[in-house]
Amino acid sequence: MTKTFLKRDIKTAKTVRAVCGRDLPPLTDLAPELFARAGHICLATDRGCLKKFKRTFKKMLGRRRAGTHIFVLPAGRPAKTFRALEELLSFMLKRGFSRNSLLIAAGGGSVTDLAGLAASLYMRGISWISVPTTFLGQIDAGLGGKTAVDLAGIKNMAGAFYQPALTVCDAAFLQTLGRDELSAGAGELVKYALIGPAALRRRVLKNLGRALKGETAALVKLVSACADFKLSLTARDERDKTGVRERLNFGHTAGHAFESASGGRLAHGAAVLWGMRYACLLSIKLKILKPAHQKTVSGILWKTQAPPLAAKCFDFRAFHRLICYDKKAGAGKNRFLLIERPGRIKAVNNIAPGILKGTLTALRLPRGLRAGYGKNFCDKNF
Ligand SMILES: NC(=O)c1ccc[n+]([C@@H]2O[C@H](COP(=O)([O-])OP(=O)(O)OC[C@H]3O[C@@H](n4cnc5c(N)ncnc54)[C@H](O)[C@@H]3O)[C@@H](O)[C@H]2O)c1
Repeated sequence: MTKTFLKRDIKTAKTVRAVCGRDLPPLTDLAPELFARAGHICLATDRGCLKKFKRTFKKMLGRRRAGTHIFVLPAGRPAKTFRALEELLSFMLKRGFSRNSLLIAAGGGSVTDLAGLAASLYMRGISWISVPTTFLGQIDAGLGGKTAVDLAGIKNMAGAFYQPALTVCDAAFLQTLGRDELSAGAGELVKYALIGPAALRRRVLKNLGRALKGETAALVKLVSACADFKLSLTARDERDKTGVRERLNFGHTAGHAFESASGGRLAHGAAVLWGMRYACLLSIKLKILKPAHQKTVSGILWKTQAPPLAAKCFDFRAFHRLICYDKKAGAGKNRFLLIERPGRIKAVNNIAPGILKGTLTALRLPRGLRAGYGKNFCDKNF
């Protein structure tokens, strides 16, 4: 079933549009107005996607497939660099792209983050379409207009808020994802179950198992529900200023530190799952997560599998340095989003390093040894 979401930004009154479904019509039919005014068109994707989806991309470009320029990025994390950004900008410049040109980003979160940033910069901003092809991209990264590259090994340190004119989440792309790649989306999915309203939580928990087996109906339901929820938050706080949007970062402070410390070996979604587990333990330690909700929250977090954290992730000095790069924390300070109960997130600043260190140690201990982290802690898989 195809669903179209139109969300009007409360500040700018601009409308953000997303279409979710399976085997969707070509982009030229979904957004004829964007193509009518586009002189030049560039499709930015990565090597892996181009190999898999060459024919699909041709179909997707409809009447404008001839003449569309293709720019190929390296797959995954190496796409999110200043070098790749400059190469994409130069590619468009050399081919005479103007302010009326159109950039289409088709790939995982690395492609949509990088190409969205290039669209925001080229001639101070050209239109772009986001076509996320991973599960994580369709429920999160490809939506909402946060774009970025990494800087000095630190995640998303240089970027812009720049909304795509259209986001298209087609479940047909998800058929080629393996179990590991689907699981990589599970971290962000679990996040929605913990930060969203009860109806979203029920939907996530009901469909999670089937989605991880690659069942299309479950994937389509989850993509639509998460896209709807994310876009309604971002329309109320596009620039992440009022706290409405910030809850989407639950688990990301520690998660980004784990992802950076692993040198990119830990997938973003898995890093976020570990980051939420860390935030959960911290919430218990600081008595923010009350005993009545501990079992539910930890049950959701430890039910989902994640690859183990490398030893480097437990180096507290490196961890502490990395968490202080959180964009919402002041210089040299820390800020964590903690959980009071499912659906309620609270920001806490400047937690004492001793508590942060103790919690990092507790994260790698078996249940019985986690003194002070709640009796009801349900972590039988850990
Ligand atoms: N901007 C945001 O709001 C936001 C939110 C969450 C995550 N992110 C970012 O997203 C990035 C992670 O994105 P990701 O997990 O989508 O992965 P990715 O883009 O880093 O890598 C995806 C990999 O899967 C391959 N691939 C893509 N689609 C495929 C398909 N349909 N079938 C088979 N293989 C496919 C690609 O070739 C690539 O190798 C991180 O850099 C993270 O910071 C951004």
